[in-house]
Amino acid sequence: MNELAGKVALVTGAARGIGAGIARLFCEEGAAVLLTDILASGEETAAALREDGYRAEFLKLDVREDADWASAIQTASDHFGGLDILVNNAGVWGTGDIETMDFAELERVYAVNFYGAFRGIRHALPEMRKREGGSIINIASLSSELTQSNTLPYALSKNMITKLTKAAALHCTEKGDAIRINSIHPGPIDTQMMVEVNMPGMVDAIPMKRMGQPKDVAEVALFLASDRSTWVTGAEMFPDGGLKAGVS
Ligand SMILES: NC(=O)c1ccc[n+]([C@@H]2O[C@H](COP(=O)([O-])OP(=O)(O)OC[C@H]3O[C@@H](n4cnc5c(N)ncnc54)[C@H](O)[C@@H]3O)[C@@H](O)[C@H]2O)c1
Repeated sequence: MNELAGKVALVTGAARGIGAGIARLFCEEGAAVLLTDILASGEETAAALREDGYRAEFLKLDVREDADWASAIQTASDHFGGLDILVNNAGVWGTGDIETMDFAELERVYAVNFYGAFRGIRHALPEMRKREGGSIINIASLSSELTQSNTLPYALSKNMITKLTKAAALHCTEKGDAIRINSIHPGPIDTQMMVEVNMPGMVDAIPMKRMGQPKDVAEVALFLASDRSTWVTGAEMFPDGGLKAGVS
């Protein structure tokens, strides 16, 4: 299949987990993909894709750094001719409640999860306008919708992604840009982050009684990245095994 033939994608946090899954599916669907991460192992993730015959490069990009963003956008343009798709996937986990939460922890989580996506959108828009369109996908979380007392830094950062997505989506339509911006809110996905989250019994709470896999998120990202979703912007999508339906 070639849903993304001729398109160029940049994926943050793509060394492993959900980002790596999205990068692979996008490659399989014909995109050229710039994988980025703070982890040097992203080079191995990209090399494995090249060995399978796909167009993939790796570049170090710390989403907290504007200079890294500028060079990543330049690299996408130099190597692949421009930018059509940005997936703001890089993220970190963080806990704390209203009384015990340390402000430094809140800032650490916001810096990656929220400001990282914010910076990404701002850097990508001018490059996407050169190709007269694009799709930006922000990986939020089901946590944006759930209220738990002790996951404040993470939940707040993801909740802010929802509002950022909608405001940026409307901004683009108001400017007449064919650039769509949507968010994906996964339930529990079997990655390194879930090891950190460490919530035993999670599977029993999921209506479909299985953990999600990176591919479950990647398939939704593919829909939002492709021309099958040209009338979808400012939307939230929930690959979560039915969890949200069960709590709202
Ligand atoms: N795993 C889940 O259950 C789950 C559920 C909902 C949402 N998410 C979200 O999905 C995204 C991917 O998470 P994952 O589950 O694959 O976890 P993961 O920890 O395997 O991957 C996160 C990636 O982000 C990278 N990263 C961290 N800080 C960065 C920075 N400053 N700049 C660039 N890259 C950075 C890490 O190096 C890592 O490769 C995150 O935004 C996460 O919040 C995960």
